[in-house]
Amino acid sequence: MKLEDLQRIETGFYNTPIHKLENISKKYGINLYIKRDDMTGFALGGNKLRKLDYLLKDALDKDCKVLLTYGGPQTNHGRLTAAVAAKFGLKCGIIMDGPAPKKASGNLILDKMMGADLFFMDDTSFKNESKEVYTDKYKKLLDKTTNEVIKMYEDQGNKVYLIPVGGSSPVGAAGYVMAAKEIKDQLKEMDIKMDYVFSGFGSTGTYGGLYLGSKYFDAGFTPIGVSVSHKNDSEMQEKIEYIKETNEFLELGVEVTMDDMWVETGYVGISYNVPDPVTRKYVYDMAKEEAIILDPCYTGKTFRGIIEMIESGKISKDKNIMLLHTGGAPGIFSEGHSEAMQEELWGNPQKEFTL
Ligand SMILES: Cc1ncc(COP(=O)(O)O)c(C=O)c1O
Repeated sequence: MKLEDLQRIETGFYNTPIHKLENISKKYGINLYIKRDDMTGFALGGNKLRKLDYLLKDALDKDCKVLLTYGGPQTNHGRLTAAVAAKFGLKCGIIMDGPAPKKASGNLILDKMMGADLFFMDDTSFKNESKEVYTDKYKKLLDKTTNEVIKMYEDQGNKVYLIPVGGSSPVGAAGYVMAAKEIKDQLKEMDIKMDYVFSGFGSTGTYGGLYLGSKYFDAGFTPIGVSVSHKNDSEMQEKIEYIKETNEFLELGVEVTMDDMWVETGYVGISYNVPDPVTRKYVYDMAKEEAIILDPCYTGKTFRGIIEMIESGKISKDKNIMLLHTGGAPGIFSEGHSEAMQEELWGNPQKEFTL
């Protein structure tokens, strides 16, 4: 399906703003801009709405009544799938990794508010098995849960549209192929030549879309992905295959080579979604300087990547750089991250007055 023939339903507000981060730029002696995809609008915004624009259209064309997707309990993508389902009169199911947390926090509260059905995959009984056994059992649990949930909805007469983790199917990635054009057009209007556009690199649809779109539309900037989790070679290979598949599906004719992609793996912090003091330092920095709220799982790492790459001389200070703010702030209010912030932000006795 040619990109130009693929239809979408706009689930967010576009174009999202681009502006310079004057205080951060001054502090570090750099030229840093931000694109506010945290302001896409519904349910506190974020990058996933751009993917859902295309996924929703595909689901409605196929007469589906349920958007069913996957993620960790704090999945931002799940929250925005719930948002789109609520707004467009569909049902939403989210299949989540691990047993159900005792308490709802962060995105889980928002998912419930918007009426999503949440399903948890309790892996406690085989959590301590060897990596191979775990992977095998986890896959079985995933297949079993998916089949049973689909059957449940179908028995109720509702056809299911299955969306992979992060909305990263070739259809979903079209959202960020087109975002590259949006950025190109905005920069032209602003008369700015952008050298690099940084985004978080997770399920890959965002970086992959920007990579393909920047080439397809000759957008004039180089996308850089900052990985948010540790990935081994075979996982990286899968990501590249997905970008190639998207290139073919959308008939873009881009030459996709590994050498040509720029993914940084050194700014993950401790691990995926594990509270990390270095990442938090950058989240606080952006909040203090610019009153822009990054998140501890994705955008904080991306911002860290920018600053540390400049400080180590990997990219030069005189370049024009853009941080794509992909959203994710509800993660701050999740159990682990908000607890980790207590000591740093709430550690000393608060000033109190009394009569
Ligand atoms: C806030 C936020 N930023 C960045 C990403 C990474 O995007 P992608 O999964 O398309 O690589 C995600 C994905 O879950 C996200 O929630």
